Amino acid sequence: MNEPVVDKVVIITGASSGLGEETARQLVKSGAKVALGARRKDRLDMLVAELGPENASAFQVDVTDRAGVEDFVADARAKWGKVDAMLHNAGVMPLSPLAMKRTDEWDLCIDVNLKGVLYGIGAVLPIMQEQGFGQNLFVSSVAGHVVNPIGAVYCATKFGVRAIAESLRQEVKGYGPLRTTILSPGAVDTELPASVKAEGVHEAVSGIYQSIAIPPSSFAQAVIFALSQPEEVDINEILFRPTKEA
Ligand SMILES: NC(=O)c1ccc[n+]([C@@H]2O[C@H](COP(=O)([O-])OP(=O)(O)OC[C@H]3O[C@@H](n4cnc5c(N)ncnc54)[C@H](OP(=O)(O)O)[C@@H]3O)[C@@H](O)[C@H]2O)c1
Repeated sequence: MNEPVVDKVVIITGASSGLGEETARQLVKSGAKVALGARRKDRLDMLVAELGPENASAFQVDVTDRAGVEDFVADARAKWGKVDAMLHNAGVMPLSPLAMKRTDEWDLCIDVNLKGVLYGIGAVLPIMQEQGFGQNLFVSSVAGHVVNPIGAVYCATKFGVRAIAESLRQEVKGYGPLRTTILSPGAVDTELPASVKAEGVHEAVSGIYQSIAIPPSSFAQAVIFALSQPEEVDINEILFRPTKEA
């Protein structure tokens, strides 16, 4: 048990795999309650069965659907009575050079990684303002700090997440102790490389992940660190990579 997170209610988007799934596990181990959202409801239901319905709830949501995100957050609050934190984690990484003109992927990446995050803020912020407390945790990336030639759109979304989070941090000063954390991981072993579909790029990215990626527990521990701070301490940025990453 990690005393400071006991009974905290944490909403997690993208909880059906990878970083979101592992963070849900570690949070429940630490005594928190989690509201899990993603499109693959079967995966969420399995996780709820593992964590126990007294600790976790599942809601099928596509974060590109604004009304759906509102319903997810409202459902979580109705079930658990409050929202201590929201981990805006759902994301895709369809890397490719711009010259491949994979315009559907550009749209998807912006819709999920940027608009999805904004819809999450729109849904949860009124609750946090009314409560007078809350913590928003955002998942940027090393790709939100450093640009690479297959990452134009993905990097743009992850730089954008940092801009949104920093603006939010400054905006909420009048509403009590609302806190804002940006987590920027390097390569972590999840299903994310599967969202790279471009020929040649998929193989290259998967190869890099296979050789250097670190376990998702690294991310979950960073989330718990940020959530464990006393109310007057606002952890704003955590950037970490595999030791082997360039
Ligand atoms: N793994 C890394 O190396 C790494 C590094 C830096 C940043 N990140 C970021 O970490 C976050 C989590 O990714 P991950 O690595 O854990 O990859 P992952 O295993 O592929 O998980 C992505 C999650 O996002 C959800 N998702 C995708 N599109 C969605 C949509 N339209 N609506 C709702 N949920 C959606 C997926 O659930 P469903 O498919 O069931 O909807 C899944 O739960 C992403 O924002 C990613 O950019 C990852």
